[in-house]
Amino acid sequence: MTKLIKVSASILCADFLKLGEEIKKCEDAGVDLLHIDVMDGHFVPNITIGTVIIKAIRPLTKLPIEAHLMIENPRGYIDSFIEAGADIIKIQAECYAPAGGRPPKLGVPRRVKVIDISKAKADIKKIRQRGKRAFMVLNPATPLCIQPLLNILDGVLIMSVNPGFAGQKFMPGVLPKLAALREIYKGDIEIDGGINESTAPAAVKAGANILATASYFFGAKNPGEVVRYLKNLGRK
Ligand code: DX5
Ligand code: ZN
Repeated sequence: MTKLIKVSASILCADFLKLGEEIKKCEDAGVDLLHIDVMDGHFVPNITIGTVIIKAIRPLTKLPIEAHLMIENPRGYIDSFIEAGADIIKIQAECYAPAGGRPPKLGVPRRVKVIDISKAKADIKKIRQRGKRAFMVLNPATPLCIQPLLNILDGVLIMSVNPGFAGQKFMPGVLPKLAALREIYKGDIEIDGGINESTAPAAVKAGANILATASYFFGAKNPGEVVRYLKNLGRK
């Protein structure tokens, strides 16, 4: 059976001096979504971009914009990302650790075993009430702790690197988690981190239907070929 694969290009590896042309490159190549990696220097040890860039891109394209929020306090920023023009808001499960746990350390990849479901539910509802799509993101070491939320989510993003930087090596250890999720979940499952021609086939086989890529796409001589290759993985 043919599975529809979508490609989400992360502009983290775009040339920011030519952002308009880079967005056009995504469109011409057949990319389905624009992935914006938002990092705050607390949740991850890097600082990147935010609403200003989304606002600048929004009038240039009809492609859906997904904001991957690698930030400490997503709740405080949902409205501003929606107002800037994001269509899909991705919130990290690790931000919903129950109160009273150990404080996180900068530089140590976040993980959480259980989350405060009602707090996460409130944020997911807020996103959806504003007519936008909500995804929950799981870091590599975070197990599937979001089952009670699956019926209100539009999708789940499985991180296949510890978030913070583009160009890292794919972690195949996350594939059993992805496959287990696909067994119980029919919605969108995106994978993000280290996707390229040798890692994407296993991710699709495990059940991913959205492939995020920064360095593979923007580093390619022929980005259209990259997108065609990734989408073809859905054909059996
Ligand atoms: C990592 C980001 C990813 C990253 C992907 O923290 O969430 O979206 O940009 O980069 P590549 O595709 O180069 O691994
Ligand atoms: Zn990302």
